[in-house]
Amino acid sequence: MPVAEIHVNLFDLVSSLAKTADMISPEVADHHMRVAYIAFRIAQHLDWPPEQRRELVMAGALHDIGAFSLQERLNLLEFEYVNPGQHARAGYLLLSTFKPFQGIANIIHYHHLPWGNGKGASKNGRLVPLGSHILNLADRVAILLTRDEPPLTQVEHIMRAIEHQRGRVFKPELVDALLSFTHRDFFWLETMSSTIESVLRRAAGFQAQDLMMGDLVEFSRLMCQVIDFKSAFTATHSSGVAETSVALARLMGYSGTELEMIRVSANLHDLGKLAIPSEILEKPGKLSEAECDIMRTHVYYTHQILDPIDALSLIKSWGALHQERLNGTGYPFSYKREELPLVSRLIAVADVFTAITENRPYREGLGKQKVTDILRKMMQDGELEPIVVDLLIENFSVINEARIGAQERAEAEYQEFQRLLHGDVHSLCEAQ
Ligand SMILES: [Fe+2]
Ligand SMILES: [Fe+2]
Ligand SMILES: [Fe+2]
Repeated sequence: MPVAEIHVNLFDLVSSLAKTADMISPEVADHHMRVAYIAFRIAQHLDWPPEQRRELVMAGALHDIGAFSLQERLNLLEFEYVNPGQHARAGYLLLSTFKPFQGIANIIHYHHLPWGNGKGASKNGRLVPLGSHILNLADRVAILLTRDEPPLTQVEHIMRAIEHQRGRVFKPELVDALLSFTHRDFFWLETMSSTIESVLRRAAGFQAQDLMMGDLVEFSRLMCQVIDFKSAFTATHSSGVAETSVALARLMGYSGTELEMIRVSANLHDLGKLAIPSEILEKPGKLSEAECDIMRTHVYYTHQILDPIDALSLIKSWGALHQERLNGTGYPFSYKREELPLVSRLIAVADVFTAITENRPYREGLGKQKVTDILRKMMQDGELEPIVVDLLIENFSVINEARIGAQERAEAEYQEFQRLLHGDVHSLCEAQ
């Protein structure tokens, strides 16, 4: 039975997301974890208290999360060079909506602000967190360190490049802190190690904590925006699926914590889309067969991201099975009806319903008759759950209005996000 509190290690959640962010291309492999690790070592040298170090590690693990929302190619870490203030601000805007991440959001906001020989200590009359400058330095070291050569061979060249920008780009005291351990092989080998995540988890001392259900709902809302804002085409999709799922679940008699968990599952159902290239998500019209093959992997990635987090197993089994079909023709597991929890069958219906009713830039959403025909056909073909489809058709107007309301609210949030993102870009770039 769902409980009102979830015992979860926030680092598990964050590192899972970081790995997803890194899946976007081989060039970004482990970028987030490496930045988190390098930043951690600098903070450790500066004797930061454990709690502050952990916050910096989480900021490092999520620092480029805003790059998803820029609708630009993420390959080759291009976003780090072209107008870098923009992805930093996008990350800040997204993460600051979740209270427990406020500190992390503030650090991420200025992770590309140059030190400017002291000018970077503050921005717009406000102190810039030291963590931002640590991330800036860690980020550059992580980018300079390539897989093309053995790590230790690269140390001299990397440190020369960093020294060259001492004061102008990087705060001198932080360069000194870095220099105090760069002669130690272990630092470079750990940075490039495939076990970097467990090294970091142990070194930083992350422990599971209780997250209230309300916090989890808010966290999933934040992730819902990261997923949806990746593409203007689907900017409100998960919000629509979540509202439809909750409306259906309420009619089926679910209440309280179960309803909240259903909302979380639906908010996260397309989490794996973060690993899908924008070109495919944004293609107007029909995908080629090869593109379809890539697109359909997103559900497996939703499963993979949530899988290591035991506390979220129910949420995973509800949200990550939304492309399964009762007759076994779905994916990625090809489960059949008896293997699918009722809530996952419910979210599957909500997903199809939202996808065909919502407006996309290249087509209008379908009307009641067509939607009913499609859902009935899928039900008769043994794909969708009859109990849920019947309920939806019986209550079409109420559910559809709830969906439209939620997607309108999400659209307003998306427009506000775009306004804040683009409105402040120039002032951010001045110093760079
Ligand atoms: Fe960045
Ligand atoms: Fe970065
Ligand atoms: Fe979906």
